[in-house]
Amino acid sequence: MKEAATLEILRALADEIRLRIVKATLKEELSVAELVDVLGLPQSTVSRHLKPLRDARLVGTRREGTSVYYRQGPALGEPWLGGVLGGRLDELPSARRDAAALRRVIEARRTRSRVFFERMAGRYASLTQPGGGWEALAAALAAGFAGRHVADLGAGEGGLTMLLARFARRVTAVDQSRAMLDEVQARAKRQGVAARVRTVCGDLEKVPMGPGSVDAVFLSQALHHAARPPLAVREAARLLKRGGQLVILDLARHEEDWVRRKLADQWLGFDSEELTAWMKEAGVRPLVAERVGDLNSRLPVLMAVGVRK
Ligand SMILES: C[S@@+](CC[C@H](N)C(=O)[O-])C[C@H]1O[C@@H](n2cnc3c(N)ncnc32)[C@H](O)[C@@H]1O
Repeated sequence: MKEAATLEILRALADEIRLRIVKATLKEELSVAELVDVLGLPQSTVSRHLKPLRDARLVGTRREGTSVYYRQGPALGEPWLGGVLGGRLDELPSARRDAAALRRVIEARRTRSRVFFERMAGRYASLTQPGGGWEALAAALAAGFAGRHVADLGAGEGGLTMLLARFARRVTAVDQSRAMLDEVQARAKRQGVAARVRTVCGDLEKVPMGPGSVDAVFLSQALHHAARPPLAVREAARLLKRGGQLVILDLARHEEDWVRRKLADQWLGFDSEELTAWMKEAGVRPLVAERVGDLNSRLPVLMAVGVRK
């Protein structure tokens, strides 16, 4: 049985074109079209020679959508074969030519990507946003809170809490509404992060947590609901350890009065100057306070980030 496999391998290798294919796929994973370019041979010839190489497991395949990529096969891991082939593949008459063609094929992949993005600069976001793109980015950025204890004040249904809980050691979701916190707990359970999520019912101005108990505090779209926003910022700062981060996401000052009736907003957004002033009064050194997202929106978003002194 073993001898039969050995014979099949040796038979499959007894051809210069097949040795060239083996050499190319040892170096890179390539589509048939790319192999055609590397070898400078018609596709029918390349495909005909790929078949015995696949049968002898000298070449492996990987399917990606409608494309098939060819790569080093498991038979090449056999020690005796390494001894037979050794550096011999470099001695093939076409070795230098094929190596140069292979470099061109890889460069063509880079060029394709570069040309596309050069052309798309300024328009790319319209293809990919909004939708999954931003959410996926936010999910990945939450990795910056890995291992930390984060408080999510005014957590609502816990969208942000869930993102943070993927990485954080613990996320404490604080809200005045028990119904919202029940929702947070149910989501945490469904997403398998319940062990890291704690819910606390309380007011933004008087959070039932000890001073200096967390590494970071988020106040996301909650401050415009607070009865006295400066006091809510002061309370957020109280919870932070020295060097901890305060991240406020809220609305920039706007004129959309309907939000008071429909969304129970207390305040029509804030100026970056007032947020930074409240931060400073609370012992937080502001790092940034600026508008983010769609600046033409009627409800623009304001982000303010600071560090507890
Ligand atoms: C618009 S939701 C924000 C949810 C989430 N943070 C987000 O960014 O999507 C506001 C949440 O803040 C809570 N909230 C409003 N005023 C509060 C207060 N004084 N104390 C505690 N929670 C409050 C509400 O119950 C609500 O769940």
